[in-house]
Amino acid sequence: MFTRLREDISSIIDRDPAARNAWEVLTCYPGLHAVVMHRISHACWGWGLKWLGRFISHLARGLTGIEIHPGATIGRRVFIDHGFGVVIGETAEIGDDCTIYQGVTLGGTSLSKGTKRHPTLERGVIIGAGAQVLGGFTVGAGAKVGSNAVVVKEVPPGATAVGNPARVVRKEEQRDPREQAAARMFAAYGVTPNGDDPLSKALHGLIDQAAAQEHQLEVILAALRSAGIGCEKLEELDKFDAAGLNKLVE
Ligand SMILES: CC(C)(COP(=O)(O)OP(=O)(O)OC[C@H]1O[C@@H](n2cnc3c(N)ncnc32)[C@H](O)[C@@H]1OP(=O)(O)O)[C@@H](O)C(=O)NCCC(=O)NCCS
Repeated sequence: MFTRLREDISSIIDRDPAARNAWEVLTCYPGLHAVVMHRISHACWGWGLKWLGRFISHLARGLTGIEIHPGATIGRRVFIDHGFGVVIGETAEIGDDCTIYQGVTLGGTSLSKGTKRHPTLERGVIIGAGAQVLGGFTVGAGAKVGSNAVVVKEVPPGATAVGNPARVVRKEEQRDPREQAAARMFAAYGVTPNGDDPLSKALHGLIDQAAAQEHQLEVILAALRSAGIGCEKLEELDKFDAAGLNKLVE
């Protein structure tokens, strides 16, 4: 239990630029309190103590403004930031490392009991403030949902969906490699770090160009060697670390 609490706290410090230290997170973050109380209510629900589960969830709602049905399944390091007005339905499933902002509903559109009525968020999904995700479909791993979007159908992994009804504005393969790398890490508020900074863009462009040229040279040298043209006199250089440099200029 303490291991999970520790990883929850450090994941919040990693993801919220406003978080200053573990004590502050432990005492002042309603999203953390809601997730911890949900673990207890979910366990009660699983043990058949349905009323107790509902009651703990009700207390958590009063304390945090976040309503999570005890039947919902929540993975590790899920961060509900600010959280006020978040509603998570009974059959919702939230994968590890997801981030949910205030005012989000993971809700249903069907009244039929015993069916999967609420969405599944795969690993690392980010749901922007006020977004409504309604139905028993899946939001793919690493996808982002814009603030105030109303999502009524599946979102592919890595895609960005915005608007009402939500439409996919960007698919994983349309992101440049730097954005894909950033998405594999965490982008606070779902936004690519320094995405609009022209100097940063220029540096990333130069690094990517240098990496592409290094690759071309490797191909040319391999072709020369296989044609029997020796290149032994060429000095051996260190491998160009494009990923490391891209990280440095972020
Ligand atoms: C959706 C989001 C993740 C996109 O971030 P991004 O990957 O950097 O994408 P961009 O900002 O380049 O936007 C892509 C397109 O979607 C549009 N867009 C972005 N967010 C939008 C939103 N919430 N609603 C409608 N359109 C939106 C942009 O205008 C842009 O359109 P264009 O291609 O026609 O210019 C981000 O804008 C967002 O809403 N994050 C949630 C932030 C949040 O909830 N913060 C709460 C903090 S308390």
